[in-house]
Amino acid sequence: MKVIEVKDYEEMSQKAAEIISSYVRIKPHAVLGLATGETVLGTYAALAEDYRNNQTSYRKVRTVNLDEYIGLNPEHPNSYHYYMKHHFFQFIDIPMSQTYLPNGLAADYQEECTRYEEVIETLGGIDLQVLGIGRNGHIGFNEPGTSFDSTTHIVKLAESTRKANARFFPSLEQVPTHAITMGIATIMKSRQILLLVSGKKKASIMSQLLEGNVTPSIPASILQTHPNVAIIADEEALSLVSKEQRKVHVQ
Ligand code: GLP
Repeated sequence: MKVIEVKDYEEMSQKAAEIISSYVRIKPHAVLGLATGETVLGTYAALAEDYRNNQTSYRKVRTVNLDEYIGLNPEHPNSYHYYMKHHFFQFIDIPMSQTYLPNGLAADYQEECTRYEEVIETLGGIDLQVLGIGRNGHIGFNEPGTSFDSTTHIVKLAESTRKANARFFPSLEQVPTHAITMGIATIMKSRQILLLVSGKKKASIMSQLLEGNVTPSIPASILQTHPNVAIIADEEALSLVSKEQRKVHVQ
């Protein structure tokens, strides 16, 4: 894992957008794995701006999202379908038929998990997967304890995750209890991974990620074993990382 240190959220977002848009310009048929959450909002805004200024085209790009809440329909303002459309897809030229997210309203969730894995396989796998990280080390919605062999599956959300995400909902009660998420093995099959980390509230998990062992209790720790991971982290996120670890990882 190489860590690119940036000053703040704005610089992280610009840097991430540069990497993603360059990738798309070099490989117009790219399969992008996309994340939701607060961390990536600035990146999507920067990509939308790049599209306006430089016309980077997404007409042939295919996207697959990491996860979706169970029980929310795609028009629900807190669904990840809605998030992606309103924060990113509506600003670029990607045909919506080339954007894939798990269906949070599937009649049979087990079948939906199998279908989603097949979608990714049919697309030829993920070229570049963008990730955020939960404060407990989750990636996608793979909570601590998830098997590293997991493929797309249903998860019961940790109470800490529901509380962390409650800021987007009118009340904690309205945060869904379950989600459907790409598994850790699904994420690890991506050819390249870009993890974005910003702010003081991620400082503790960031130091655990760089200094700790590879353990299911910190799902993101498996990234240490992936051959092509770049982390863009800002000063606050790196504030608890020791000098020794900085020398090993930080560029
Ligand atoms: C959410 C999402 C993740 C996201 C993470 C961090 O629950 N399922 O994909 O990366 O938690 O969220 P944020 O960027 O808002 O801190």
